[in-house]
Amino acid sequence: MPKVTLEKGKTYKYCTCGHSAQMPFCDNAHVTKGGGKPIVFTAEKDGEIGICGCGKSKNKPYCDGSHNS
Ligand code: FES
Repeated sequence: MPKVTLEKGKTYKYCTCGHSAQMPFCDNAHVTKGGGKPIVFTAEKDGEIGICGCGKSKNKPYCDGSHNS
């Protein structure tokens, strides 16, 4: 699970297509390469969080531990 530092109230775009060069965040590569659209979310608090890097989380963009199962 990648750890990222977020800023409370700031909006982020989580890549779901797998083509971003700035994973886990969207860099708009999906526009030309296809495969999905980003999940747009607003950070609820400041600090480091675990973000889904395996694609199995049912609570994307957040890690829910599914990578362990
Ligand atoms: S680059 Fe992957 S969703 Fe935008």
